Amino acid sequence: MQYSFGIIKPDAMQKKHYGKILDDIACAGYKLIGLKLFHLTEEKAKNFYAKHENKPFFDELIQYMCLSPVLCFVIQKENAINDFRALVGNTDPKLAEKNTLRHKYGQDVSANAIHASDSEASFDREWRFFFTENELYFPNDLQ
Ligand code: CDP
Ligand code: MG
Repeated sequence: MQYSFGIIKPDAMQKKHYGKILDDIACAGYKLIGLKLFHLTEEKAKNFYAKHENKPFFDELIQYMCLSPVLCFVIQKENAINDFRALVGNTDPKLAEKNTLRHKYGQDVSANAIHASDSEASFDREWRFFFTENELYFPNDLQ
């Protein structure tokens, strides 16, 4: 079993796509381990996206991520990291395949509805920005 971390970004929150997105994720076989509304500060968004700080889109990305509360989640499934990146789709919703979340719910390459961890190292770093270990609920026989 593997875990991944995701964020439903401000554009998808404002358009009220969060319910459909969580349903699509559940229907794709993921268990929900953690879920939290969180309003990023500029400082926290800059830290989260630190590896992009020299990119031309960095300032716009930080402003956008702080526009409204976002919905952060941890999910579990076999091969969760690669499979969830595939479900999320290309960074640019116009290039994303038809059944992907970004194609269905994204606006453009900036406001693309979802963040998904791209590796185990990213997952290990990213979930800690939003959760403590005792806020994650690991599956038992009832789930
Ligand atoms: O999110 P993903 O890993 O697919 O893409 P990234 O290249 O790591 O970029 C992180 C985020 O920056 C994207 O999800 C977009 O929200 C934003 N971005 C942008 O605004 N303009 C670009 N040309 C590329 C990315
Ligand atoms: Mg990335």
